[in-house]
Amino acid sequence: MLEGPAMSKKVMEISGVSKKFQVRGSKNLFTAVDDISIELFEGEVLGVVGESGSGKSTLARCAFGITSPTSGSVKILDQSLIGKSRKKTRELRSNLGFVFQDPAGSINPRMSVYDAIAEPLKLRGDSTQDIDKRVNFLIDRVGLETKQLLRKSHELSGGQCQRVAIARALATNPKIVLLDEPTSSLDLSVQAQILNLLEELRRDFNLTYFMISHNLDVVAHLSDRVAVMKDGKFVEVGASSSVLANPVHPFTRELISVYSRNLEISSALPANFELDNWQDGPLNKWAFQNISQFLPVQEISPANSPLSLATDLDSEIEKLTISTSDGTFSFSELIEETHTDALGGQ
Ligand SMILES: Nc1ncnc2c1ncn2[C@@H]1O[C@H](COP(=O)(O)OP(=O)(O)OP(=O)(O)O)[C@@H](O)[C@H]1O
Ligand SMILES: [Mg+2]
Repeated sequence: MLEGPAMSKKVMEISGVSKKFQVRGSKNLFTAVDDISIELFEGEVLGVVGESGSGKSTLARCAFGITSPTSGSVKILDQSLIGKSRKKTRELRSNLGFVFQDPAGSINPRMSVYDAIAEPLKLRGDSTQDIDKRVNFLIDRVGLETKQLLRKSHELSGGQCQRVAIARALATNPKIVLLDEPTSSLDLSVQAQILNLLEELRRDFNLTYFMISHNLDVVAHLSDRVAVMKDGKFVEVGASSSVLANPVHPFTRELISVYSRNLEISSALPANFELDNWQDGPLNKWAFQNISQFLPVQEISPANSPLSLATDLDSEIEKLTISTSDGTFSFSELIEETHTDALGGQ
């Protein structure tokens, strides 16, 4: 088993977890997760990557007690989720938070933002006064305004919805949060903001993230460790900087090469264009790699403009012009282009 960051407390222990499903119309079992063991430590981000169908979400569901493993065990803060009284299980579960790909789908459309965030606290039996205090604290922490508390999910943008989902996930002050493709349904500029928010919250609340993503740049940016999954097994686990820069397993190499080929970034960027030197380096790099995933970027000007993703991204980014093989665009024009051209088909 791989060691986590030195001195950190172990918060989750996954031991020999397998999950098998009955194959429809047959007696055979399909192994979606195959004997996985890994430990998560306080404050760390584990990124799980791998092809579609490799078992990432199923593993996460087993780890977070959404489904039970066919064999193996999971401990949260040294305790098993299985075989506890209801009260104890509820207490233990309040250490877990969930953020999924489709923010609108994870919020009850009949509920107001306030009620959606308050629900887990009501279920826990908190007093009205405590709930009110907590909801107002959370709404501010995720960058929403009080006036948005009475809205319903369909009255919010995708990014705002994901902020509500994050506030709700953090309501009970969890220690470990599952992020299953947390940014992949969002517009490109919004993805960067949500990623920034997640990083800020992890730092401020010492959260541990179990993050699943298809986007290797998101993983590289947020994760301390990365686990590469194939056919229900981890084929490679290690520090994300070393796994993504120097992959050992042939499958990891293939995954990275397919991903980089899609990005077409190395050939598209001029040699003197150093995204890393921009303010917030890696995050900008990530944002722009996302653009070049759909349109090869030739030049972004002004190239050395500071870009603060923590503040008002939209107005900062609007000042940029981006030259591509198909012409020169402002950021919003480009996003529209990529949406109609490439993203629209997804
Ligand atoms: N409830 C289920 N019943 C039967 N098979 C299932 C069930 N849930 C998942 N599977 C199968 O298990 C395998 C792993 O699925 P899983 O959703 O964990 O993959 P994933 O790595 O999260 O994929 P993606 O990247 O597309 O989200 C798939 O072949 C899937 O069809
Ligand atoms: Mg999945």
